[in-house]
Amino acid sequence: MKFGYFDDLSREYVITQPDTPLPWINYLGCEAYFGIISNTAGGYSFYRDARLRRITRYRYNNVPMDFGGRYIYLRDNESKEFWSPSWQPTRNDLTDYTCRHGMGYSVIGSSYDGIEAHTRYFVPLGENLEVWQLTVTNKRATKASISAFSSIEFCLWDAQDDATNFQRNFNTGQVEVEDGVIYHKTEYRERRNHFAYFGCSEPLAGFDTQRDAFLGPYNGWDKPAAVAAGHLTNSIAHGWSPIGAHQVKLELAPGETRQIVFVLGYHENPVDQKFDPPGSQTINKKTVKPTIAKYLDPKQADAAFEQLRQYWESVLGIFQVNTPDIHTNRMVNIWNAYQCMATFNMSRSASFYESGIGRGLGFRDSNQDLLGFVHMAPARARERILDLAATQLPTGGAYHQYQPLTKRGNNDIGGGFNDDPHWLIIGVSAYLKETGDWSILDAPVQYDNEPGSEQPLYEHLQRSFNYTLSRLGPHGLPLIGRADWNDCLNLNCFSDTPGQSFQTTTNKEGKVAESVFIAGLFVLAGRELAAIASHRDLKAEADKYLAESAKMEKITLDSGWDGEWFLRAYDDFGGKIGSKECKEGKIFIESNGFCTLAGIGLDDGKAASALAAVNQQLATKHGIVVQQPAYTHYYIEMGEISSYPPGYKENAGVFCHVNPWVMIGETRLGHGDLAFDYYSRINPSAREEISDLHRCEPYVYAQMIAGRDAPSFGEAKNSWLTGTAAWNYYAIVQWILGIRTSLEGLQIAPVIPTNWPGFTATRTFRGVVYKISIERKGNGNQIALTVDGSPIKGNIVPPPTGGQKEVTVKGILS
Ligand code: GLC
Ligand code: GLC
Repeated sequence: MKFGYFDDLSREYVITQPDTPLPWINYLGCEAYFGIISNTAGGYSFYRDARLRRITRYRYNNVPMDFGGRYIYLRDNESKEFWSPSWQPTRNDLTDYTCRHGMGYSVIGSSYDGIEAHTRYFVPLGENLEVWQLTVTNKRATKASISAFSSIEFCLWDAQDDATNFQRNFNTGQVEVEDGVIYHKTEYRERRNHFAYFGCSEPLAGFDTQRDAFLGPYNGWDKPAAVAAGHLTNSIAHGWSPIGAHQVKLELAPGETRQIVFVLGYHENPVDQKFDPPGSQTINKKTVKPTIAKYLDPKQADAAFEQLRQYWESVLGIFQVNTPDIHTNRMVNIWNAYQCMATFNMSRSASFYESGIGRGLGFRDSNQDLLGFVHMAPARARERILDLAATQLPTGGAYHQYQPLTKRGNNDIGGGFNDDPHWLIIGVSAYLKETGDWSILDAPVQYDNEPGSEQPLYEHLQRSFNYTLSRLGPHGLPLIGRADWNDCLNLNCFSDTPGQSFQTTTNKEGKVAESVFIAGLFVLAGRELAAIASHRDLKAEADKYLAESAKMEKITLDSGWDGEWFLRAYDDFGGKIGSKECKEGKIFIESNGFCTLAGIGLDDGKAASALAAVNQQLATKHGIVVQQPAYTHYYIEMGEISSYPPGYKENAGVFCHVNPWVMIGETRLGHGDLAFDYYSRINPSAREEISDLHRCEPYVYAQMIAGRDAPSFGEAKNSWLTGTAAWNYYAIVQWILGIRTSLEGLQIAPVIPTNWPGFTATRTFRGVVYKISIERKGNGNQIALTVDGSPIKGNIVPPPTGGQKEVTVKGILS
């Protein structure tokens, strides 16, 4: 069953039924001002940091779900009936409901009683504000007298404090209203120099800023008393809960259309210009009024929307593909790339499942996100890399997370996740391959944000690598620390106390438990680092990295091998995890996927054996599960992984983030059919028809799909903010389609299904447009390339000399 359809030409998903199984959301903003918006206009906005600069309030896990947002109400002044064109919050029986989620915008609307209304929500490029363009059309044969109301609820900035510290917060709320613009200025009197504003393009019939005046006691957003009564009360908030609501009266002739623009924004004033007149307590609005006026003008709003459209056109235009599979085309060309932008911007902070107050940006997460993002905005990727590296500790370890507003490591969670440092090498390597910008390696970067500790980025990479060399366990494999990629495999935790964090509780010395996954990551990182070093003519260093990688590879093949597949780890007693000797958790995806992705065991048949075992034991029709058999009870020596009921999350769920490792491993074995089959099993577009089972958005990946041990096998959870976005993009584009960035240039090495006749693609790479067409003439993966008509040796297209801006590449697969 479907709840909408893809409109690929418009790059939109069109939802045609408002009561989707879960809120199906989109993101507004791609720079500093962000919002999440659901298909029924639920959600909230924030500036940079979803926790520390929350602009509007949102109650997660609410009943009914997704209540509170950017709501418009229309009221027929004659019949006195009112409704919301976005269905929520009033939930009237609408006709022609649609929500078009597009690239950085959503248009939500419907018809009701002959009145058609749509609101287009978006954030203009370069601005800290969002525009709502409400269009109302009278489709009746008679004139209509309508009141339109807007509403939002302000958050008192710190979303965590806002939801907990009521003894203070019910007293601090303050607003000003001037020329119809509502200014939210809680705490502006003291240490904040920022305020929010909410303006309207039309003369107001009224406004409200005190929530109780608008809703009335005991009412929800579905029945605001002031809307029911037909007039707002011009309330001025003092304490309690400041809101913003406008009322505009519309007299509409038959067929007449009117547009009302609302602008909700965030503004900071210089400390010495906060007040106007100076010495007063009134906000200095001179600095913001021109911006508000600009976007309240529908023509300017339209122009800003057009700019946003062009921006996405150009960003997505960097890589476009045409394959025989519509789901591949749609995900690669539109939605997967778009999701990579969201994960880059948000990391794991704000979605319908990430509350925005939990985690900042993850070190491991954000580095991996670069794999799917770096080609879209390399300058921003560079900045992110330098920010991440500056939170690295002098030991080479890393803070597991940092807060985007302060760019400082989170002390609450600290470090000690022993895979973390290597992801910096992977991220930097992806950046270098994309851009060829070697200067980044010389950029001075602090350790732990300590002024004076600056070292070139290259030194950070060296410390990342060495971190593991000084943390090897009894078998010579890397010690796992608090956890590796799998945050829930906590081998030094041994927690028996409710409420303890599995990630930060450490009851063991950590000198025994080893990770085969980190071994695979180390081998790969070592080879990437060696390639970087030899490019810089540091031969001795390159040799050292290669030697250490080779040594670790051997240890992995000896002590990390279980006979048919790779072990997952050794626990604190030196016992095997992920072995046929185990009762549960005999085989895991991570070590088998990553070791083969890293090329371990390709020559001696071990990679093939491992992936065959994955295929037999872990692959299901809804994707590849983390391990089998699932853990049926809590194992104190393994930690959080065994805290989940079987089939969910890390306990044998389909963790979509790691499925691509197996896809890539299969391409390294030359198995295009199987790699693509795995790709399709979790491709959200390919799962659209089973939306009633899948339940999450069919246009973006979710972190997890319930595994076969779960009663809800096939049900997705935690959509949007997951490393799944970058890894699937990377797997399909760089390994299955095989259009791969390398230090030397663009490599073309497709490992596609045997029944594909070929495909075409356009890739802008280091300023050159590559027009690529691949034709299949045989069943294998041997490629013969011609560049502008001349055959070349190998599969790396040499960068054109002499300023050429376009190159035609033809590949014949045999
Ligand atoms: C979450 C975390 C990620 C971790 C994964 C597996 O997605 O964000 O860092 O690797 O879970 O535990
Ligand atoms: C939980 C999740 C895991 C995530 C971790 C990080 O343990 O199961 O996926 O990585 O939290 O906070």
